[in-house]
Amino acid sequence: MPRRPVAVFAIAPWAFGGVFPADLLARLRQLVDIDPTTTFTSFDGPAATAALAEAEILITGWGCPRIDAAVLSAAPRLRALVHAAGTVKAHVDPVVFESGVVVSSAAEANAVPVADYTIAMLVLGAKQVFSRARRYAAATAGTPPDWLAGDGTGLHHCTVGVVGASRIGRHVLRRLRRFDVEVLLYDPYVNAAEAARLGAEPVGLDDLCRRSHLVTVHAPALPETRHMLDARRLDLLPENAVVVNTARGSLIDTQALTRACATGRISAILDVTDPEPLPPGHPLLAMPNVLVTPHLAGAQGRELRRLGDFAVAEVDRLLNGAPLVGRVEPEHLPHIA
Ligand SMILES: NC(=O)c1ccc[n+]([C@@H]2O[C@H](COP(=O)([O-])OP(=O)(O)OC[C@H]3O[C@@H](n4cnc5c(N)ncnc54)[C@H](O)[C@@H]3O)[C@@H](O)[C@H]2O)c1
Repeated sequence: MPRRPVAVFAIAPWAFGGVFPADLLARLRQLVDIDPTTTFTSFDGPAATAALAEAEILITGWGCPRIDAAVLSAAPRLRALVHAAGTVKAHVDPVVFESGVVVSSAAEANAVPVADYTIAMLVLGAKQVFSRARRYAAATAGTPPDWLAGDGTGLHHCTVGVVGASRIGRHVLRRLRRFDVEVLLYDPYVNAAEAARLGAEPVGLDDLCRRSHLVTVHAPALPETRHMLDARRLDLLPENAVVVNTARGSLIDTQALTRACATGRISAILDVTDPEPLPPGHPLLAMPNVLVTPHLAGAQGRELRRLGDFAVAEVDRLLNGAPLVGRVEPEHLPHIA
């Protein structure tokens, strides 16, 4: 058997087994020489130093220590960093990109469950399922059915505003093609022709807010996206609009959202909040028209192996000289998650 490149795991043990189940580890071990029983959450100490000295590929994941100049000098053979999770911004120092080490992320694989969650929430949110279920649970026996003809609920022929044709936003846009809805898109990086290819009408964010029955937020947290849905824009939303946020809490002004939802004029479904988690007793947690989930839209449980699958496929591509699907280019960092 030809010499396999040496790879090293740096991923938290709590995530490791889910991301790399035994069969996936076996596949990976056909490609690289890797110790499947050791994963580093710190690069301090003799074992990490010895592993880094040989490492050609670092396979990272949640809980990975920061990869910086010190790690690079301890790992002179390193040529690729394959991240079996989403963003690399938190743990990959810019010096890594400057060094020529190739960086790949499994954000594309993590986008799939977030898009699935989003579509589920758009369907259920449009029907006001969560608030109606709460009212039903609280009602006494014999309460008449809680639905009306012409009450403005339901997905049929409504307008969905997508904020950000990001990886997740694009998965959502693709899934929305199956529904008979009008789709608006706000994304300053997407031109009209591309928006049309994505099945959406490109609009400004104010226009999107004015026209959308459902707004779903998929932009990255950046200085320019902070509070992009502020009090003024929330006021533009039509009566009974539903805001779904699976992106980052900072994109919506929490105080303004709390005030808007308290009036009952709009509803919200929030997988992310600012602050996160919300403090116990926060008004949003008790509102019947607000559903808050604990940042669970991304890969969880069985979905974790999708990240490992993606990472193993990236290693395969790397070793075969094929372009990496999840390659992170340094020039994209200022406007990606
Ligand atoms: N809830 C979860 O579990 C979960 C999981 C993964 C990602 N996320 C979040 O979802 C969001 C999308 O993630 P991703 O990996 O698809 O992002 P991404 O890195 O693909 O997003 C980059 C794209 O966003 C768009 N964009 C950039 N600036 C924008 C702006 N000002 N307005 C509108 N669009 C803009 C551009 O098209 C850009 O290419 C991020 O906020 C991310 O943190 C949440």
